[in-house]
Amino acid sequence: MLNIALAGVTGRMGQLTLKEITEHADVEIVGVLTRPGNPFVGSDAGTFIGTPPINLSITDSPKKAFIGAQVIIDFSHPEGLELHLLEALQQEKPYVVCITGLSNTQQDTLKKAAFQIPILLAPNTSFGIALLKQLITIASKALGSSYDVSLLEMHHRHKTDAPSGTALSLAKALAEDMNLNHNAPPYSSQSPRPSRTIECAVLRGGSVVGDHSVIFAGEKDMITLEHRALHPSLFSQGAIKGALWLKGKAPGLYTIDHVLGFCQ
Ligand SMILES: NC(=O)c1ccc[n+]([C@@H]2O[C@H](COP(=O)([O-])OP(=O)(O)OC[C@H]3O[C@@H](n4cnc5c(N)ncnc54)[C@H](OP(=O)(O)O)[C@@H]3O)[C@@H](O)[C@H]2O)c1
Repeated sequence: MLNIALAGVTGRMGQLTLKEITEHADVEIVGVLTRPGNPFVGSDAGTFIGTPPINLSITDSPKKAFIGAQVIIDFSHPEGLELHLLEALQQEKPYVVCITGLSNTQQDTLKKAAFQIPILLAPNTSFGIALLKQLITIASKALGSSYDVSLLEMHHRHKTDAPSGTALSLAKALAEDMNLNHNAPPYSSQSPRPSRTIECAVLRGGSVVGDHSVIFAGEKDMITLEHRALHPSLFSQGAIKGALWLKGKAPGLYTIDHVLGFCQ
């Protein structure tokens, strides 16, 4: 049985993840954290998600939330990262970071912290996306540079970072595989498409959980590889699997690819 603390419990993903943890045979929730000022601080976490009470109060203190945990899962907000990481370091707890939209500085901070604790940096915890990454690597090697590569992502209307962290990481992987420029500035619709670049289009709307398509467009055919998340609990389940995997690991910065054995 793995004892988990969950940061961001009052958010959309936090509530779903708490539900998944309470229904999972191999994990137990021992701490639930939200930001200071949240009106549900002090409430029972079970009652908060509409299940019977679980005798665990929502707290705004990272210290209290993390103390009994063996692994921390963080589905909060980039602004919460530094405080949560500091406490994870002080308590030497493995830390699963599911937050997206982290700045380069925050990513560097995590890299440094990973010398002291194991950190799973997982801006997308869906195993299907990890598989998509493998498939696009195969496709890019097979198709070569005569194909134009485009990314299309769509998410629900509440998402505030764009392009999604997942689209950015897919673009980075493609750029490395095909020696393309993924930081090319947007080009005018009056000009032809520049060669050897990756184009990325972003759509937002409704309650779309997360769609990512990679389109290889050639002169005579087009190949589209697509991942479509149908329910957000997919990400909660991936985070729990990640937490189970991270327990007992040596300090280091890991990704979902490590969890799946796609890289050493
Ligand atoms: N890894 C993945 O696969 C995956 C999948 C989906 C989403 N995400 C990411 O997970 C994060 C949460 O998503 P969500 O849709 O659940 O967002 P959300 O509904 O806005 O929830 C955010 C949570 O963080 C808390 N929070 C806000 N500001 C904070 C601060 N300054 N310090 C500490 N806590 C703070 C919120 O508290 P209040 O309730 O008081 O506002 C809430 O509990 C986002 O970064 C999102 O992009 C990752």
